[in-house]
Amino acid sequence: MCGIIGYAGSGRASQAITDGLKRLEYRGYDSVGIAVLSPKSKLEVRKDKGMVEEVSSALRFTSIGGNIGLGHTRWATHGTVCRANAHPHADCTGSIVLAHNGVIENYAKLRDSLAAKGHKFASDTDSEVVAHLMEENAKTQPLIRAFMRTIGQLEGSYAIVAMSAADKEERLFIARRNSPLIIGAGKGEMLCASDIPAMLKYTRTFVPLQEGDMAILARNGYKIYSADGAEAERKQITVDWDMEMAKKGGYPHFMQKEISDQKHFINESLSSDTADAMKLICASGRIDIIAAGTSYHAGIMLSYLLQSTGRVAQAYIASDYPYIAKPDKKTLVIAISQSGETADVLQALRFAEGCRKIAITNVVGSTVTALADCVVFLNAGPEVGVAATKTFTSQLAVIYKLFYDKERLKPLSGLIGAMLEHDNEIKAVAQKIAGKENAFFIARGRNVPIAYEGSLKFKEITYIHSEAYPGGELKHGTLSLITPGVPVIALAPKDETLPKLLGNIREAKARGAFILSITDDDEVKKESDISIALPPGTDPILYPFALIVPLQLLAYHTSVLRGVNPDRPRNLAKSVTVE
Ligand code: F6R
Repeated sequence: MCGIIGYAGSGRASQAITDGLKRLEYRGYDSVGIAVLSPKSKLEVRKDKGMVEEVSSALRFTSIGGNIGLGHTRWATHGTVCRANAHPHADCTGSIVLAHNGVIENYAKLRDSLAAKGHKFASDTDSEVVAHLMEENAKTQPLIRAFMRTIGQLEGSYAIVAMSAADKEERLFIARRNSPLIIGAGKGEMLCASDIPAMLKYTRTFVPLQEGDMAILARNGYKIYSADGAEAERKQITVDWDMEMAKKGGYPHFMQKEISDQKHFINESLSSDTADAMKLICASGRIDIIAAGTSYHAGIMLSYLLQSTGRVAQAYIASDYPYIAKPDKKTLVIAISQSGETADVLQALRFAEGCRKIAITNVVGSTVTALADCVVFLNAGPEVGVAATKTFTSQLAVIYKLFYDKERLKPLSGLIGAMLEHDNEIKAVAQKIAGKENAFFIARGRNVPIAYEGSLKFKEITYIHSEAYPGGELKHGTLSLITPGVPVIALAPKDETLPKLLGNIREAKARGAFILSITDDDEVKKESDISIALPPGTDPILYPFALIVPLQLLAYHTSVLRGVNPDRPRNLAKSVTVE
């Protein structure tokens, strides 16, 4: 939710910031802005509503000279989408500017007290209040103290980058709490951003800030302070991702590239280190799995696999976990989060204080890694498309690795490759369903989380309403919605779920549904309007991996046919850092 970036160095700040904003756009894309201290020590602010590409070229972001600046791409929380509400925000004098990601919960109180002191506000945002507060505090103390005091007065979540035209030392003042912010330590240039790919062009050395940290960045270095103001050391990490991994590589959309990349990254994920996680699982009693969205679907799969070995395990929607669960000290909590920054997941982990915790994540240095006793990395490379695809398959892969030996999982890459071959067929199916208003996904058993995931992918990027059910549930209500022509997408591999699922397919067909099946069974093929073939002889435990690929492709092609940008569906953002 919102992407922020700062640059202080000897290069052209506007270029580094614009480059970074393009990489950060998946975090929020309703408006964008930049502030750079020009060589004449004047703060130049340019911003507007719209996507990074259009706004940055219309307002000629990179034409601004200067070596220090900051930028922001917005996902609105307070105030409508308009130029005034776009970041950066300035104080009354225009001398302090800042960008903020998060929600300032006490902003109304702060705003009233600042207004009483004569401050005039130009926007409806909670973020602008912070610039005025810093201005007020800087009246009586040096900038660095004023910044720290300001941060101490904020309640809620924030990643903040601020700067002042009056600062002769040309520094960026940054802070984070419950929103990600990472320092990128280049040679003779320092950056900070909401995530690593935004800085990869400039450095591979990063310093993730911890909760409550503040830092000062200047061209030649950085100083970090913990929440109590004491200087602090934080671990540097080096990543081996490169810029190419965060680029489209010739594909029209990141999502298509990421779907296609799955056949490679699956092996990286299968080589991730799960040994410590396994020890914790073996030593545990009850296991609670917490996650949101797509990661929750991977969590359901994990719970099914654990239950199949006789374990007491349950997957919870992270945002509901605190209302429902009563973990005790013997409970093992497994958090699954691609970004490692999802506020609902972090909150649920904090709620489970005292429990042993495992995090399964793709992002090195993300907040979830600091809250867990043991981390399993997905090694899936950066995922830029808002809809999670390759990271879902990677989550399934590391989960499977906990239960099955290497040899049995070896065919996965080839299996995914074989399913990708159906791309043209699926494109043709997409043409048939792109004009529909509803779709239903059905499956049974271990294939059900895949139906949930297929349906989520489909609705989020096509804007067609869709639902997913265990096939047995159709007759308990949903069958009344099955009318002639409604697409029913049946996940029907030849496993123990098939006989009963075939019955469900027939029930839907009898009501005129348009049946699209993914199957390796001749009987199902006969009942279907269209079938996507599963490779013959597939090991039944691997079916979920084969089933998800056509569902991702179906969502992708239908989205494109409907004129939606699948990388940036409306109202959504990649990293959901608000609760
Ligand atoms: C859907 C999607 C979301 C995320 C959810 C959790 O395509 O991407 O549902 O899965 O926001 O995100 P993470 O896994 O980063 O915690």
